[in-house]
Amino acid sequence: MGGTDTSAATLAVEVEGLEWYHTLELAPDVITPGWLDTRKIAHQVPLPASLSGKRCLDVATFNGFWAFEMERRGAAEVVGIDVLDPARWDWPAGSDPETIATLAARQAGGRGFEIASRALGSAVERLERSVYDLDPDDIGTFDVVYLGSLLVHLRDPVGALECVRSVCSGTLVVVDGVDPLLSLLFRRLPVATLDGIGRPWWWYGNPANLVQIVRAAGFDVVEPPRRLYIPPGPGQQTVPLRPGLLRTRGGQMAFMVSWKGDPHASVVARPRALAAPVLGKQAPPSDDFRARPA
Ligand SMILES: C[S@@+](CC[C@H](N)C(=O)[O-])C[C@H]1O[C@@H](n2cnc3c(N)ncnc32)[C@H](O)[C@@H]1O
Repeated sequence: MGGTDTSAATLAVEVEGLEWYHTLELAPDVITPGWLDTRKIAHQVPLPASLSGKRCLDVATFNGFWAFEMERRGAAEVVGIDVLDPARWDWPAGSDPETIATLAARQAGGRGFEIASRALGSAVERLERSVYDLDPDDIGTFDVVYLGSLLVHLRDPVGALECVRSVCSGTLVVVDGVDPLLSLLFRRLPVATLDGIGRPWWWYGNPANLVQIVRAAGFDVVEPPRRLYIPPGPGQQTVPLRPGLLRTRGGQMAFMVSWKGDPHASVVARPRALAAPVLGKQAPPSDDFRARPA
């Protein structure tokens, strides 16, 4: 076996030894069996096609798909942050230690990112930081910030986005989970349900709710939210429609993910130049969805 074959075989063994969140093509015949396949919707996410010369941040990078994608689009520098120890995630009180251990095994201390980064020859710098700890004095500011599938896992999504705002000097792209039923029933009214029992799943709302959270954190939303569905990857078993499946909320969601993908919405925003407080009140947020800056 030649040297290249040996390293491809070694890589394949490393890939097999882990659970993957992202589906990544690491070599011609080595594709990670991700839970989701974000490759299929990358073109629908409103990230600029060229990030040439930009300093970019990927918040909650996990296996690194979006950080590598920004690097692929020509970013001058990409930093990814993540909380590698799941015990430090926003767990609701009284969460089951077994559930924490299961998710810890899935996170594997961030090993998936390291394998992928090495295989891709990436220069993305991953830092172990919580979104709540983002501080411009620590890591500087970024022209483009991507934040994907994190807000639903946070107890305080507005507080987290305020921290993102402190390091965002240009464009914020948020893609987060939405509730399909609320999205259908309430087009304009921001509405969300609270989970928060036993696992770090907190708020599931409609796209209007996502817009409102982003605005509440001091951003102007610069284009209407878009719906998108992230398809399951080869690491997720899809659920066939069978009698009784649609009776529970969990069953409806599992079927929806198998059939169409995990329902998400994207929002593009820019930090608002906050007006000086007048009589203790700030100017109301703008409703103006301007064209997205190039
Ligand atoms: C559902 S995955 C999202 C992965 C990726 N951002 C994407 O859009 O495909 C959730 C990620 O959030 C990370 N995470 C959880 N709490 C966090 C926090 N407080 N700050 C930063 N990342 C966090 C987890 O470690 C995990 O990598």
